[in-house]
Amino acid sequence: MSQTTQKISIFGLGYVGSVTAACLASRGHDLTGIDVQPEKVARINSGKAPISEPGLDALIDEQVNAGRLRATTDPATATSTDISLVCVGTPSTASGELDLSFVDSVCQQIANMLESSGKEHSLVFRSTMLPGSARRLAEQHFSKFIASGKLSVYFLPEFLRQGSAIADFRDPSLSAIGVLDPLTEKTIGNPVAGILDEGIEVVGLEAAELLKYSCNAFHAAKVSFANEIGRIAKGFDGDGSRVMELLCSDKRLNISSYYMRPGNPFGGSCLPKDVSALSHFARSLNVTVPTLDSLLPSNQNHLEHLIKLVEKTGQKSVTLIGIAFKNNTDDLRGSSLVNLANALLMKGYEIRIYDPLVSPSSLVGMNKRYASAKLPGLDSALKSDLSEAIPEAGTLVISKACAKLEELRPLLSSQHHLIDVNGWRDLEDLPGHYHGLCW
Ligand SMILES: NC(=O)c1ccc[n+]([C@@H]2O[C@H](COP(=O)([O-])OP(=O)(O)OC[C@H]3O[C@@H](n4cnc5c(N)ncnc54)[C@H](O)[C@@H]3O)[C@@H](O)[C@H]2O)c1
Repeated sequence: MSQTTQKISIFGLGYVGSVTAACLASRGHDLTGIDVQPEKVARINSGKAPISEPGLDALIDEQVNAGRLRATTDPATATSTDISLVCVGTPSTASGELDLSFVDSVCQQIANMLESSGKEHSLVFRSTMLPGSARRLAEQHFSKFIASGKLSVYFLPEFLRQGSAIADFRDPSLSAIGVLDPLTEKTIGNPVAGILDEGIEVVGLEAAELLKYSCNAFHAAKVSFANEIGRIAKGFDGDGSRVMELLCSDKRLNISSYYMRPGNPFGGSCLPKDVSALSHFARSLNVTVPTLDSLLPSNQNHLEHLIKLVEKTGQKSVTLIGIAFKNNTDDLRGSSLVNLANALLMKGYEIRIYDPLVSPSSLVGMNKRYASAKLPGLDSALKSDLSEAIPEAGTLVISKACAKLEELRPLLSSQHHLIDVNGWRDLEDLPGHYHGLCW
């Protein structure tokens, strides 16, 4: 990215704003910090950090002395800059809702500034805001400036951790920026490009907003999960730290992107049964485990979301492409697709199933008993020929790539709806109406 010096104002000089200001100044940019609290402004101007953060006092002192950083309570100062970064707080209201009043009042100040200035400007939101917030604020305060090309709007989530904020800013764990129109703005123009990390990912505003919340929710889920495993272990005098240490040493299935994309509900002969058993075990030890207890209901909600999607297509005939719980197996135990087929049969749908690995005559043992109990009509619903499985009109629920695109194409028309359960995006090019499960 360009190394040109940029003139930048930062609204909000708290944990994020003061670190951002000092770090950008240390890269040679010209920074003006703006805050409503005169004490924070005075501290920065005297070369001190307004908050406690290792290394920040020295960095601010250095940058103020070099003439690259100053602070003020006057928002109109931003007029002389090309980029405004918004780092004000976004607290929760008493009812838990997101309070955007600080961001809103900064937007009003920036709109006033744009009204009186003839210059082009870039507005970069850094405050954590729910999906849709940045676009709504942009439409509310800046639509005419955006339409005339005078203002560009971005959302640049911040991932720094307090306590190691300077190191995190300089070597971020993740860099992504949200733009108003990701189809046309694949690369960011100057001056904003001049302050971004190399290789930053460009996405839509809402995706960038959700990314920030997803990261924090994931961190919270990790902490809660580790604490629950720790409490279960403590319940029988075990060593939860050692268990989690070993769990984390598996970089293939555990600490990896495996299992980390939206798609099928989980199923199979192990996950549902073992999650259920662990929850019961915790209860027998008098250990409460709300995170673990939430997994099966969450999975059931996901299945219900899929059922609603089928219902929305308005077709009474449904073909399941794939019925076993995952690829390359005939195992039906715990398969969410079996539950789907059963739920749809109960609702009066006409069900056909195509899964070349599954044949009622070769099912044995528990697998056979499970299939007969959960889906008594399996024999008649299973079709060995794809053309028999797909009627002239209907909905296809495609959970596995057990049929090739070339085999599907001639059997489909505008009378078909394709529900993609597992992110097989090539299905979008087939005839019919494509529906992604979570995309
Ligand atoms: N603290 C973190 O580790 C962290 C990390 C990533 C993202 N975030 C997000 O960044 C945002 C800021 O967080 P923070 O911890 O720095 O907050 P903070 O409360 O420490 O700082 C916010 C600052 O904004 C100032 N402010 C309020 N209204 C203003 C206005 N109209 N004009 C100028 N300044 C104004 C306040 O006086 C305060 O100094 C939040 O949305 C937060 O969720 C925080």
